[in-house]
Amino acid sequence: MAKARQYTALDLFSGCGGFTLGLQRAGIKVLGAIDFNKEAVETFKLNFPTVPYVTEGDMTVMKPEDVARSIGTHHVDVVVGGPPCQGFSMARQRDGANHGERRLVKDARRELYQEYLRFVDYFQPKVFVMENVLGIKSAEGGKYFSAVQHEARILGKGEGKPGYRVHAQVEHAWELGVPQKRKRQLIIGVRSDLPGYFPTTLKAPNRSVPNITLGPAIMDLPPLRAGAGEEEREYDLALRERSLDKYGELARKYLYDVLQVGITKKLTAHRARRHSERDLGDFKKLKEGQSSAVAMRNGVKFDFPYSTKSFKDRYTRQSRDSQCSTIVAHLSKDGLMFIHPTQNRSITPREAARIQSFPDWFELPVARIHQFRLIGNAVPPLVSEAVGNEVVDFLEQQTTMRKTKTNRTIPNSHEEAVQWLLPVLDLSAKDLKQLDKDEFLRAWRSVAYLYPGLHPDSALDHGPTVEKREEGPNWVMMIEPRLVTPYYRQSGWPVVLKPLADEAWRRDDAGLLADDELYSIEAQYAGMTMPYTA
Ligand SMILES: C[S@@+](CC[C@H](N)C(=O)[O-])C[C@H]1O[C@@H](n2cnc3c(N)ncnc32)[C@H](O)[C@@H]1O
Repeated sequence: MAKARQYTALDLFSGCGGFTLGLQRAGIKVLGAIDFNKEAVETFKLNFPTVPYVTEGDMTVMKPEDVARSIGTHHVDVVVGGPPCQGFSMARQRDGANHGERRLVKDARRELYQEYLRFVDYFQPKVFVMENVLGIKSAEGGKYFSAVQHEARILGKGEGKPGYRVHAQVEHAWELGVPQKRKRQLIIGVRSDLPGYFPTTLKAPNRSVPNITLGPAIMDLPPLRAGAGEEEREYDLALRERSLDKYGELARKYLYDVLQVGITKKLTAHRARRHSERDLGDFKKLKEGQSSAVAMRNGVKFDFPYSTKSFKDRYTRQSRDSQCSTIVAHLSKDGLMFIHPTQNRSITPREAARIQSFPDWFELPVARIHQFRLIGNAVPPLVSEAVGNEVVDFLEQQTTMRKTKTNRTIPNSHEEAVQWLLPVLDLSAKDLKQLDKDEFLRAWRSVAYLYPGLHPDSALDHGPTVEKREEGPNWVMMIEPRLVTPYYRQSGWPVVLKPLADEAWRRDDAGLLADDELYSIEAQYAGMTMPYTA
């Protein structure tokens, strides 16, 4: 189905662009991306040359007004982003990289969601999506999580803005075709003035293979020893064929549709890190799919000097036949939890990127430690594509609903009539001329509804005198006093409605309005018979 128009987005805390890639694939135009990390911005720019505004900036000091000036608009349809989650990652609590609850509680990065909401408040997107670790839900006894939801709900309410309906959902990356046991928390906000609900389950994108395992995603890559490999080399096409023979259609779909090997000229970032002789010896003791904890229970003795407590989960050899452990930024420190299923080394940045569903053409022009961090931090593009598809469906639904609504050109209440009139009050004659027929009729019939005593014919000659009226319905005076005063003494028409009446007559003269539309008796009648509810 053709889309009503192309939707626009801003990617905040954009990293190397995992979120942006998926949104683009869903047909959304990303207008801007912000991250304060140099390598992230460099990588983003290289891979997304068509995103007009990509900047290395600190979200705690960036001003939305400045961003609006750079992207040429004050409004986008979607804001996405992952305010950093390291402060409360369950993975880090488990692997001991955090130092107890005190540090978690004090991590200043927690407040970054407020910077994110500051941008949401300014750009008033129809939808915003945040991706975070599951740990966010329980952090500080759930206080943080409810603060995000509550603050989004009341966002800008004091200034008459609608705020956001917010809900949270857990996304299982493997169901969307990512060969990984990854679970993440999505927080989704829909602007409260929009009807409908965002679906709570994402659909796997067409290109994806739900529940795909690790083997088909990486086993066509040339084998490497630890410390070997080059930043750029040819693919091994014979090996690719063997892998396709072994894994069949699933692998073909993953390689060609998700990784897009068919349009990638060279294999890049397939370089294995070095390991000590002792670690390499220990790796050899692990069977495919086995962790050091399990191996130890089976009586395997490792050379690493360990205490039974901290060592247990030191190494994991991944399995070709199941999904890989969750790829995390910590991979940049060491790869011990990500040992290749059949080779004696940890995975390469390209393998990590493939496990995150990044296409092979995605370039990582930075040192290996940064490659791992950027890929580990990213939203898997298949997940963001699934999010993007739902966002587009949701926004399309809004357009269909609005169309049905505009066909209903008689207001249901006095408040609705005022709401329909407000947007046209300050339009120039030229802009009024450009309104589509339903939009124009809604405004014009609202006049008939609100002012059943005014005659369209009298709007042909208002007379010279303009007067002030001291009184009018209180609620209208509060919303827009110009709907009451000043007015033309002769015609009785409020001055602010003159351009609208002129446009009605212009359309009538041009044969664009039928008589029953110009005089809109049904609307006039409805206004007379509908009791005031305000
Ligand atoms: C979890 S990553 C986001 C990854 C991204 N959504 C993706 O899909 O590739 C969080 C990012 O926030 C950035 N960041 C952290 N604090 C920031 C700040 N104050 N201003 C701008 N960016 C910041 C980090 O550099 C990191 O790239």
